[in-house]
Amino acid sequence: MAETRKKMTMPGLFKKVAEGKPLSWMTCYDYPTAVMQDQAGMDMILVGDSLGMTMLGYDSTLPVTMDDMIRHTAAVRRGSPNSWLVGDMPYMSYQPSVETAIRNAGRFMAETGCDSIKLEGGIEMADRIAGIVRSGIPAIGHLGLTPQSVSALGGFRLQGKGAAQAKKIVDDAKALEEAGAFCILLELIPDRLCKLITERAKGCIIMSLGSGLDAHGQLLIYHDAFALYPKFKPRMARVFADAGKVIQEGLNGYVKEVGEKTFPSQENWFGMPDEEFDALLKSL
Ligand code: KIV
Repeated sequence: MAETRKKMTMPGLFKKVAEGKPLSWMTCYDYPTAVMQDQAGMDMILVGDSLGMTMLGYDSTLPVTMDDMIRHTAAVRRGSPNSWLVGDMPYMSYQPSVETAIRNAGRFMAETGCDSIKLEGGIEMADRIAGIVRSGIPAIGHLGLTPQSVSALGGFRLQGKGAAQAKKIVDDAKALEEAGAFCILLELIPDRLCKLITERAKGCIIMSLGSGLDAHGQLLIYHDAFALYPKFKPRMARVFADAGKVIQEGLNGYVKEVGEKTFPSQENWFGMPDEEFDALLKSL
C-alpha cells in the first residue's frame, strides 16, 4: 500500500511511461472504493459511464446523464485526492457540437475537480477533442469497442479484426493524437493492432482494455475485477478477489442471524441505568 502519495500529474504519467513503467487504471464510482484505490497507489481512476450498468442497473450506458456523472465523479474525487481522475463524458454530452462538448467538459472540471475527461470516437470526434484541449482541459480518446455506439458496432465484440477496420482505428488514433488527446484508450482490439498503435504514438499515452500487454498501461472495470457484476464476466477481465462471493455470504449470514435473533448481541447495543428506567416508567 502506498501510505503517503504525491498527487499524480500529467508530467508524472509521462515520466512513468518514459521509464517503461506500466500505468494502472481502474474504474471507480463511489467514495469508499476511491479511498482504497488511492491507497493502493492507482495511477489513474476512471469514473466511467459504465456506472449506468454496474451501479444503476441499466442494460447499456446510454441513459446516463451529466448529473449522474458529476455526482459520482465528485464523490470519487473526495475519496481519491491523488490518482489522476478522469470523468467520462456520457452519451449526447459531446456528440451534438463542439460547443456542447466544451461546456460539458468544463462542467466536469469545475464541479468535480477531476483532472481530465474521456470521450468515445475517432476522426469524427477529433474537433471535439481539439476544442476541449484548446479550452485548457486534458482530453482522452477512446477507440475500438466504444459502448455508446454498441448498436452500430453490432454488440460488445472485438473490433479491428479485419485489415480495413484495423486501418480505420490506426487512422482514428492518429487523428485524436493530432487533435491534442494526451492519452487514448484502446478497448477490445487485437493485441497486434494495439502494439502497432502504441509504437506509432509520438506524444500520446496508449492504454489497453482487453487489447493485450503492449500498451503504456492497463484499464480494468472495478466490478469485473471483484466479481461484482452479476450479468456477465467478459473474457478481458480477471477476478483479482471474489468480493461478490464474500459480500453474498455476509448478506446470507445477516439475514439468517436476524431471523434467529443471534444478531444483535450485547456488545451491539446500549443499556440504561435502573434508576433512569424506573423514573421513566413512573413518568408514563
Ligand atoms: O465507462 C467506462 O467504464 C468505460 C470503459 C468501458 C472503458 O468507458
